Amino acid sequence: MTRTKIKDILQNEQTDYKVTVKGWVRSFRNNQFIALNDGSCMGNIQVVIELGTDENLVKSINNGASISVDGTVIASMGKGQKVEIKADSVTLLGECDPEKFPLQLKNKPSLEYLREIAHLRFRTNTFGAIFRVRHTLSYAIHKFFNDKGFVYLHTPIVTASDAEGAGEMFKVTTLPFDNPPRNEDGTIDYREDFFGRCTNLTVSGQLEAELGAMAFSEVYTFGPTFRAENSNTARHLAEFWMIEPEVAFNDIVDNMDLAEDFIRYVIAYAMEHNREDIEFLAQRLVDEEKQKPMNERSELGLVEKLEFVLNNKFERITYTQAIDILLDSPAYKKKKFAYEVKWGIDLQSEHERYLVEKHFKKPVIVTGYPKDIKAFYMRQNDDGKTVAAMDILVPGIGELVGGSQREERLENLTTRMNEMHIPTDEMYWYLDTRRFGTVPHAGFGLGFERLVLFVTGMGNIRDVIPFPRTPKNAEF
Ligand code: 4AD
Ligand code: MG
Repeated sequence: MTRTKIKDILQNEQTDYKVTVKGWVRSFRNNQFIALNDGSCMGNIQVVIELGTDENLVKSINNGASISVDGTVIASMGKGQKVEIKADSVTLLGECDPEKFPLQLKNKPSLEYLREIAHLRFRTNTFGAIFRVRHTLSYAIHKFFNDKGFVYLHTPIVTASDAEGAGEMFKVTTLPFDNPPRNEDGTIDYREDFFGRCTNLTVSGQLEAELGAMAFSEVYTFGPTFRAENSNTARHLAEFWMIEPEVAFNDIVDNMDLAEDFIRYVIAYAMEHNREDIEFLAQRLVDEEKQKPMNERSELGLVEKLEFVLNNKFERITYTQAIDILLDSPAYKKKKFAYEVKWGIDLQSEHERYLVEKHFKKPVIVTGYPKDIKAFYMRQNDDGKTVAAMDILVPGIGELVGGSQREERLENLTTRMNEMHIPTDEMYWYLDTRRFGTVPHAGFGLGFERLVLFVTGMGNIRDVIPFPRTPKNAEF
């Protein structure tokens, strides 16, 4: 008999039909009631076995064990579920020793402990919910762009360019560390390397996406991205996933509109399709907030926060306005900021969070950053000082999106690249788009894990990617 998913049984609520279900035991009460979960949804199905079932079998029905059940779906007499399965037969698939099963060893395992056993944490309610939501969000992302006619472009993972110019790259090489071939001046001779040149893992697919946009008009990438920045924070990963749309003929305002529509669409999609998971996570957050002092608790619950984002336009301000707001803030006057505030600084996370959490209390799009703190490809504004950059800041996270209108004027771009010591000859292919049929265009990058953090209400980015890679950690 084919396996029926527990989700389908719970959802359709029909009774009096035969099923086979398979899954992992979540609990076993009175030698009679098994709560079985197969990951298809948050809920467990209750399986009722006859007292007197084979004693050895009963002994092996421990939490974490996997079983297969043939039985009949019937209306449940008990509280908490409408239907249950009256078992005709139970087969043990894989035993699980409760004395050794890491998930059983702690009563209420902490998120930190679960990170150490990330290979098993999918089997908890919390991580089940998080990763179902993560799945739905990634599906919604593809659906959003597909419905709008964007082409999904797979940009390379191994590349020779540093798109962001920040030098935070992991090298990719097959050269021997102990004795690499050298040039006469002692530098490493990459001509001998696998690709015949120095290569690294990509920090962004943007530059290649721009090439695609110059033919398809609208493209997006959605892939893994690597940054060797030594930021051990709850918002940074060394390996994360990024969504980068790139659109020909769009200016910075179109870019902001697209980003807002996109964020709203995927949140709404997850709320519609993963209601049960999000409500569970909302309750988890309520419980967690109870541990915090009153003044640190958030004013809105998770569901209210997401609904607020769906129903309210993001605030749009310039960088210069942002600096003025910060300089005028009680936090600044009381010297609460650890970092200096003045025109020209890169906004620190404490500044970003002040703007969204204290001042506007909603997502904010900041545009017109000083050119010296932004990447070479951003379009220069007429004032000679700022570029058409945009960062989207959201409560609880800080920067969710970074993007810009791109410099499409060959002269301006090469001048800026020279100023920033970016080799124009190696980047001939990027400059060719400006030589042959250049058009105004714009795009942005959204950090997928930061989006998942926002939608699940989790506090640490290590808890929303299956196996996080962070400084000194690449377990599993
Ligand atoms: O602002 P960033 O560096 O922008 C770019 O890479 C552009 N090329 C994007 C574009 O215009 N196509 O990164 C974009 C987003 C950030 O806003 C943040 O959400 C996320 O990527 N991000 C990280 N997420 C997790 N861990 C890290 N170390 C991240 N660095 C950036
Ligand atoms: Mg950025």
